[in-house]
Amino acid sequence: MYGLVNKAIKDLVTDNHGDEAWQKVCEIAEFHEGDFISMSPYPDKLTFTLVGAVAQVLKADATDVLEAFGEYWILYTADQGYGNLMDLSGKTFVEFLGNLDMLHYRIANMMPELRPPMFTTRNEKSNSVELEYRSHREGLVPMLYGLIRGLGKRFDMVVKVEQIETRSSEENPHVFLITW
Ligand code: HEM
Repeated sequence: MYGLVNKAIKDLVTDNHGDEAWQKVCEIAEFHEGDFISMSPYPDKLTFTLVGAVAQVLKADATDVLEAFGEYWILYTADQGYGNLMDLSGKTFVEFLGNLDMLHYRIANMMPELRPPMFTTRNEKSNSVELEYRSHREGLVPMLYGLIRGLGKRFDMVVKVEQIETRSSEENPHVFLITW
């Protein structure tokens, strides 16, 4: 994944737990380069190793780390020069969810090696919507809970997220029921 993701993990840890905690993460993950280059791709394995190391240092579950990271990502990207792009992606929560592929498509113009997730909204009702999530990667479902809640906050909404379908093959998506 692009360095921007790893950098966000680093900032999440240093913001909330200080530099020392991050140094321990780097030792466990055997990452000795000091920092990440936002616009360079890194192996996915490094990102997953970092998440595992953060969980170890904070004595937390990796799923909780991923969820916290998802929520942080919404604020982080808005703060890292992608605020305009976020503003362009929807005036309402549901509109934004429907534009997630467009958002990543625009990012792929700047990050040609991006392997973005794919999203589809369905069954929209006045206080709920379902979100299909497809990915080239496994193991990121917990991050979705944080992302969706963080996105809700961006629109001053308290949203409830529940996974109603689990991917059983390449073609099937994970599906989340989001209510507010
Ligand atoms: C301007 C804001 C955003 C930027 C700059 C951004 C950028 C990225 C980048 C760089 C990656 C790593 C993929 C790779 O390097 O191959 C990624 C992955 C991902 N993004 Fe975004 N993103 C943004 C907003 C969002 C939002 C709002 C959501 C959902 C609510 C989202 C959902 C995801 C997910 C789930 C992944 C993990 C990849 C996977 O599932 O395979 N992103 N994004």
